[in-house]
Parts: sequence; C-alpha cells; structure tokens
Amino acid sequence: MYFRYPHVSVILLFIVATLRAQTLRDEANRADILIGAAVNAHYFSEAAYTSTLAREFGMVEPEDAMKWESLRPDEKTFNFAKADRIVEFAQTHSMKVRGHNLVWGTHNPEWLMQTNRTPQQLSALLHDHISRVVDHFRGKVFAWDVVNEGFNERGKLRDSLWFNQPGIGAGEGIAYIAQAFRWAHEADPNALLFYNEAEAEETNLKSDAIYAMVKDFRQRGVPIDGIGFQMHIFNLAPNFPSITVNFARFSKLGIQIHITEMDVALPVAADGKAINVADLQRQADIYAEIGKICLQTPGCTAIQTWGVTDKYSWLGWATHKTKGAGLLFDRQYQPKPAYKALEQALGKRSARQH
Ligand code: XIL
Repeated sequence: MYFRYPHVSVILLFIVATLRAQTLRDEANRADILIGAAVNAHYFSEAAYTSTLAREFGMVEPEDAMKWESLRPDEKTFNFAKADRIVEFAQTHSMKVRGHNLVWGTHNPEWLMQTNRTPQQLSALLHDHISRVVDHFRGKVFAWDVVNEGFNERGKLRDSLWFNQPGIGAGEGIAYIAQAFRWAHEADPNALLFYNEAEAEETNLKSDAIYAMVKDFRQRGVPIDGIGFQMHIFNLAPNFPSITVNFARFSKLGIQIHITEMDVALPVAADGKAINVADLQRQADIYAEIGKICLQTPGCTAIQTWGVTDKYSWLGWATHKTKGAGLLFDRQYQPKPAYKALEQALGKRSARQH
C-alpha cells in the first residue's frame, strides 16, 4: 500500500513526526510531570536564555530572588521587583512558579542576623514575612519551599536563627517548622507547601528524621503537601535502589515529591567544560535513572534542574571551579546527552502508574 500510494506514507510520517513530542516540556506534559528550572532574571536579556527556558521548561523557580537576602534589603522594605519579573515571565509563557524559600538558616540579610531580638520579636518578624510574601504571590506561586535544609547529616535539627539562635519557639524541636507551615497555609490555603532538603534523597539519618517529621505532621494536621529533594549530585555513583526506596516511603505518606535542584557535577577544565567525554554519558544515565525513579513513584510530580545552562550554574563557585557542567544544556545552549536521556526516560511514560 505504501508503494502504491507513496503520498499516504508521507502524510503518515508527517503526522507521526508532529505527534512526537519535540521538546522536553512536551515530553514532560505527556508524562504528566512538571519539568522546571531555577532562574535568575538577570539573564532575561539574553535571547538564548529566555527562548530555551520557555521552550523546554514548564516551571520556574527563582534561584535567589525570593530569599530573605533578596527580598528584604532592610527591615522595613520588601523588594519584590526581581521575583515579580520572573513570575511575569512565567505567566507570559504559561509556566508554573515554585517559591523558594521562606525559612532558611543562611542567605539571610545582615540586619536580620546581627540583632538581638527576643524569640517573641523574631517570631512576629517571621510571621509577618511569611504572610506578606506568600500573600504577595497568592495565586501565582503554586508551591512553596516553606523551610529549607533544617536537618544535618546526623538527622538532628541544624542550629539556626530560626530554630535555637534564639529561635522562634525557644528551640522546641520541629515546632518552628510546623509553625512556619501553619503561617504559610494561613496566607495561601491553596498553595502546596513543601519541606526542601539537601542530601536526603537516599535513605540515611537525615531522610529518616524528615520522614518521622512528615509522618508526625500528617498525623497532627500540620499542613504539609510535599518534600523537595534537591538532588545536587556530586559523585557519579548515586545509590539508585536507596533513592527508589526512599521516594516510595515518602510517597506512601500521601505527600508529593518534587526533585527541586537537580544537577550532576562533573570534573571540569578551566573553561568550564567537562574534562572526560565519558562523564557526559554517565551524567546522562544518571538523569535518565532519576527520571525513571520519579515516574515510578506515584507521588513524584516534578523534576527541576538548578539552572538552565552550564554557562550560569551555581556549581562554578560552589565547587571552586573544579566541578560544573551539571545541567541539561551546555554553555552554548546546546542540549547535552543528559537532555536526550531524560527526554527518552520521560517518553517511557507507560512506566508511570497513576
Ligand atoms: C544557591 C544559588 O544557586 C546561588 O546563586 C546563591 O548564591 C546561593 O544559593 N541549596 C539551595 C539553593 O536550596 O537555594 C542554593 O542556591 C543551592 C543549594
């Protein structure tokens, strides 16, 4: 039939090609998962940055613009300009916005760290901050990282301004975290509220402690909707079975999982490019495997990379320029092997169990 009617096969080919997802964003849509990137409005003047972002991602998160340090130049002022630009960009391009973050022990302005407020005063200040910020973005930010990196690797709460120095609840364990969630919920009952953490992707003392906290919150009705696993991968040998088991147990608690800050750091030369070509393939395999684990976990609803292009990745400074090239697009905005691998993994959406 194809030989007798060659035009039919041409038309069929055309239809198949159009139906096939063309971008990561399309593929993620089809897999019913969100694909996002952390962004910085500073780069919006670069056409390749904005076109790649809007084409390939369906979600953004301000890399820094919603942190205390950025929003609060002094005690009286809220500076929403940069964050608003990001939200505007997202709206123009029909993208969702994750908010990051409301409570963290670092990246706070000097004026906040250097005063000696009483716990009551500090508590009032945090309540006010959460209410005003969440209210400002009400209906625009669909999910918030309410508290970031509250636990250390031993599964103990990190010492911080908010917990115990002096803390908003005189150091009463996870009470300060619960309080922050309640305040955020008050300000926007429709926003999904996440606890976000580093190095808790696998089962370890830290993820055990977070698991116990989420279980407790669910039992007591503290409004928590999800866990953000950052997924900054610095060694090229993540323990996939352990990640699978960990994701599954959190998902069984009835909460969502977002992979919030993924990158896979590679050894790089002075020009920021990967030293070993083989590493790029290893990186691709890791992205694919994490994509697969997410699709297989019923509660895993988003995968986000910590940046758009290797050109502007935080890894540069975080690892003293010896590691980098962790993202899906290289410094010229070309898709890397990791891009294809993740796209293909998402393409196998039959793996997803709804
Ligand atoms: C990083 C940003 O990428 C940098 O631009 C900034 O200078 C420091 O913070 N975990 C987090 C993110 O939750 O907020 C951090 O982002 C990276 C580690």
